[in-house]
Amino acid sequence: MAKPADNGKSMAMMKALVFHGPHKLVLEDRPKPVILQPTDAVVRITTTTICGTDLHILKGDVPTVVDGRILGHEGVGVVEEMGTNVLNFKKGDKVLISLITACGRCSFCRKAMYSHCRTGGWLLGNSIDGTQAEYVRVPYADTGLRLLTPEIDDEAAVMLSCILPTGMECGALCGQVKPGDIVAIVGAGPVGLAALLAVKLYSPAEIIMIDLDDNRLEVARSFGATKAVNSSDGKAAERVMALTRAEGVDVAIEAVGIPATFDICQLIIAPGGRMANVGVHGKPVTLNLEKLWASNITLTTRLVDAGTTSMLLGMVERGSLDSKKLVSHRFRLSEILKAYDTFANAAKEHALKVTITTAREKIIHPGMV
Ligand SMILES: NC(=O)c1ccc[n+]([C@@H]2O[C@H](COP(=O)([O-])OP(=O)(O)OC[C@H]3O[C@@H](n4cnc5c(N)ncnc54)[C@H](O)[C@@H]3O)[C@@H](O)[C@H]2O)c1
Ligand SMILES: [Zn+2]
Ligand SMILES: [Zn+2]
Repeated sequence: MAKPADNGKSMAMMKALVFHGPHKLVLEDRPKPVILQPTDAVVRITTTTICGTDLHILKGDVPTVVDGRILGHEGVGVVEEMGTNVLNFKKGDKVLISLITACGRCSFCRKAMYSHCRTGGWLLGNSIDGTQAEYVRVPYADTGLRLLTPEIDDEAAVMLSCILPTGMECGALCGQVKPGDIVAIVGAGPVGLAALLAVKLYSPAEIIMIDLDDNRLEVARSFGATKAVNSSDGKAAERVMALTRAEGVDVAIEAVGIPATFDICQLIIAPGGRMANVGVHGKPVTLNLEKLWASNITLTTRLVDAGTTSMLLGMVERGSLDSKKLVSHRFRLSEILKAYDTFANAAKEHALKVTITTAREKIIHPGMV
């Protein structure tokens, strides 16, 4: 896989999934990334996955993603090359790629708001090329990568690139879940389910899961949701109020990103409650302050900072957090368009998280299925 570069030398090529505007994805040959800054690493991807945010990008909800962008902000791989200032990693290390790039030095990084880093933030698969490819360039590799043990399962680890820290930080922590709370999570996609796993760590009395997809609701029950509400009839809010003696919930986590689900949250929030928005919104929502102004509620928004990634990784390594159970389907990179179809039609396909492995991995480990 090499083609002549402008200077006559041959340029190494790779396969990558490229966004060409709303609803247009193509698996293409693209030049293999190279080190641009001394703090960069190039990682050979072994496993990547698709996020609900990628589906928002496909709908055209995320205008920072332009035509020609390689998508993907989640990945596990092996360090292939490093810039001279990368101190924490060496060639051949197995690593987790965090969706958040952080310089570690700017005013926002100093406040642990890594997603707002002045020269970083959510860059991968957004404003720079991402992980749904054979290789990716990771800026500020010392902070953006986490060392993985060779034994850790790729699929368990790749859940830590985005969804588990998101569920923890934007869901459980923003919602300030306490023992005995009644928590509702609107959206039982991988992020909503990750929020469920995170919320459980704080011993709420009740976790009510709301979705349109009975399969995902069933999975939520198996993960520890105490009640499941199918909202296809538009009556989810009434149902939740009935389940809570008309008091509402202490914490409402929005994990979809559309006005209808934001509305459910504001209809079910109890006085003194916390509404934690997780979903990426492409359209405005109406905040009903004429009803909520006197309710003592807190509304939070957050882009995941990935400050909890190392803690969550420790839990996965020690077996106290089973992240692999979020994976339902497995594909090769050559089948990534099928993987997108499966994830986008989750109810029909009974899909949760879908993983994508590179063919190269197959050559190295011929026994792998
Ligand atoms: N804030 C952050 O930093 C951050 C990080 C990652 C993901 N996200 C966002 O989190 C959201 C969820 O991600 P995901 O990967 O789970 O997405 P997903 O698309 O797989 O899941 C969304 C779920 O919402 C359900 N849903 C759709 N309409 C509904 C309705 N009217 N009522 C109830 N449920 C409904 C779907 O059935 C689906 O199960 C997305 O908006 C994603 O962009 C935010
Ligand atoms: Zn994501
Ligand atoms: Zn910074």
